[in-house]
Amino acid sequence: MTQPKRIAITGAAGQICYSMLFRIAAGEIYGPDQPVSLHLLEITPALGLLEAVKMELDDCAFPLLNDVVCTDDPKVALNKVDAVLFVGAKPRGPGMERSDLITDNGKIFSSLGKVLNEVGNPDCRVCVVGNPANTNAFILKANAPNINPRNITALTRLDHNRALSQLAAKAGARIGDIQKMVIWGNHSTTQVPDISYASINGKAASDMVDQSWARDEFIPTVAKRGAAVIEARGSSSAASAANGVIDHMASWIQGTPDGDWVSMAVPSDGSYGIDEGLIYSFPVEIKNGDYTIISDLDVSDFIKEKMMASQQELRDERDTVAALLSS
Ligand code: NAD
Ligand code: LMR
Repeated sequence: MTQPKRIAITGAAGQICYSMLFRIAAGEIYGPDQPVSLHLLEITPALGLLEAVKMELDDCAFPLLNDVVCTDDPKVALNKVDAVLFVGAKPRGPGMERSDLITDNGKIFSSLGKVLNEVGNPDCRVCVVGNPANTNAFILKANAPNINPRNITALTRLDHNRALSQLAAKAGARIGDIQKMVIWGNHSTTQVPDISYASINGKAASDMVDQSWARDEFIPTVAKRGAAVIEARGSSSAASAANGVIDHMASWIQGTPDGDWVSMAVPSDGSYGIDEGLIYSFPVEIKNGDYTIISDLDVSDFIKEKMMASQQELRDERDTVAALLSS
């Protein structure tokens, strides 16, 4: 029998995970022929709720679900797993910025980074979801030098999907007709949703919508969508975030279609003048389980200025968490 892939998931009794675990157990990340084992981590007071989640996973009788480990011990959860989804962290409420979470949530990522460094598989794939996601991933990377740094990524696929949805609605197109959307930068309001390279059924998207719409409506709508959901729902996005995580991981493992790419926040390789090592969202293509940053796009002055502002915000966040960056 095929060995199961082991996936650790933190914050497993929280909102996002309630929309995510069942889809992972059904095979949506590793595909329909690959059994999976789930290592679910929670803080001690949430273990009762986590047990209820496990009961429901059991009751689904997923053929691909090999076993479920529920624990409050990070050394058990992160031990030699193939992938870790770091969801567990405080969400923001109305009126807050994601960076307001940095002091509380940053500590979670320095301490779990140290544990991953000790017990983790050096090649495990990491996706950080807890906010502020890019800087939490940066903290994790600094605290886990034994883990392949290329494999420490953060989620901007939700933003990418939001951008696809806004463009499709404006152009009267189907999502599947759109290729080459880009999200640059930080998962924050400085992110840069960019339709410069996007096509709709092979035609340039920028010829099909007004430039003023792209600049004055599309960019702010996508960048502020998280706050709009919080305002409407009273709590932060959960099902769409879960969907973004599954898309991120499935693309990373199963690849991107020829002629298209996806957005992922990954350690910068210096492309486009972004500081090496900063966790920054780029367009990437993925083949054989490995991503390549698309590094040769012509970027307009308007977009470049915004990309640099997002980089500056990430530098500032990095400076704020300087005390958490030593392994
Ligand atoms: P939630 O409060 O419903 O769940 C978080 C869970 O994490 C809780 O069950 C909590 O007990 C657990 N937890 C806290 N500290 C932990 C630790 N040290 N170890 C293990 N578990 C821990 O929150 P949620 O709605 O699931 O959101 C989780 C995070 O994801 C938030 O920071 C939110 O802002 C972020 N988020 C990011 C994106 C993105 O696109 N990057 C999208 C949506 C939400
Ligand atoms: C989102 O983009 O929906 C999440 O990051 C949650 C938030 O705080 O906006």
